[in-house]
Amino acid sequence: PAKAGMKDFLHISDFDKATIMKILDRAAEVKAVIKSGDRAFLPFKGKTMAMIFAKPSMRTRVSFETGFFLLGGHAIYLGPDDIQMGKREETRDVARVLSRYNDIIMARVFAHQLNCAEFGKGLWLENKQVDILDLAKHATVPVINGLTDYNHPCQIIADALTMIEHVGRLEGTKVVYVGDGNNVVHSWLLLAAVIPFHFVCACPKGFEPDAKTVQKAQQAGISKIEITSDPQEAVRGADVVYSDVWASMGQKEEAAHRRQVFQGFQVDENLMKLAGPKAYFMHCLPAERGVEVTDGVIEAPNSIVFPQAENRMHAQNAIMLHALGL
Ligand code: CP
Ligand code: NVA
Repeated sequence: PAKAGMKDFLHISDFDKATIMKILDRAAEVKAVIKSGDRAFLPFKGKTMAMIFAKPSMRTRVSFETGFFLLGGHAIYLGPDDIQMGKREETRDVARVLSRYNDIIMARVFAHQLNCAEFGKGLWLENKQVDILDLAKHATVPVINGLTDYNHPCQIIADALTMIEHVGRLEGTKVVYVGDGNNVVHSWLLLAAVIPFHFVCACPKGFEPDAKTVQKAQQAGISKIEITSDPQEAVRGADVVYSDVWASMGQKEEAAHRRQVFQGFQVDENLMKLAGPKAYFMHCLPAERGVEVTDGVIEAPNSIVFPQAENRMHAQNAIMLHALGL
């Protein structure tokens, strides 16, 4: 087989609970090594990674590049104008050429899969030629999903690691996401299909997550899943209140309209008070302070957005080790 001993990382639900827990344990282990200042652990020595970005990024770009370097490898940043996958060259050709130079590919693109039956349709179909599943299919090295219009699995592994560190566990917790039913929500739902916890998405009507993905999480039958339009009620007893931008990359022209529709979905001090004293605030960042979240909530002592951002690197190091069978 083309990827013997190696694995793509495209959706959380491609892995069983034991594998996800193993990745999380590994992330904590390698994090401790890096934080201790020890630079002798070099599993990626002699390896290279191609990083394809069709969208902007700070965390994903810097955490992947830095993490791969700290563990001995060399990462190559390919920005939106560099290879122009799908425009200058077909995805399947990019996949096969990069696989001949590199040991692993990380990609942040718009489309998840064109005409994707399994994951629903409509979220990622407009004007986007490239799709990450096509890239993974034609690459002969592992492909890591660094965000698509559909999902953001690396983010959610980092978030799970952060919850284990701060809340003490992930299983059995209550996570309440407030805002747009977007790519980050889809990855939370796919995690809830593998690990049992209570996940609530409070979003305006018409901005719910993809119905097929909600169904997939519910049908797994291990987590309590709720979709509601009442954030005040939703946040009660939460371990984590989570937010993300109201207009994702590729939707910025809808930002003004969304600000109207999302009134009442801002995470502010009152909402955090309703959540209760044990609730932490999380946000994948970048945040628009004063829009989906107040400055006060991000700066409060129970906000863990910066440890969360740091954990992107540690989570991804473990994901890459797993992908490469190391
Ligand atoms: N959270 C996240 O993926 O951030 P970037 O868009 O900056 O990579
Ligand atoms: N939902 C956001 C996440 C950014 C990390 C976006 O897709 O723009």
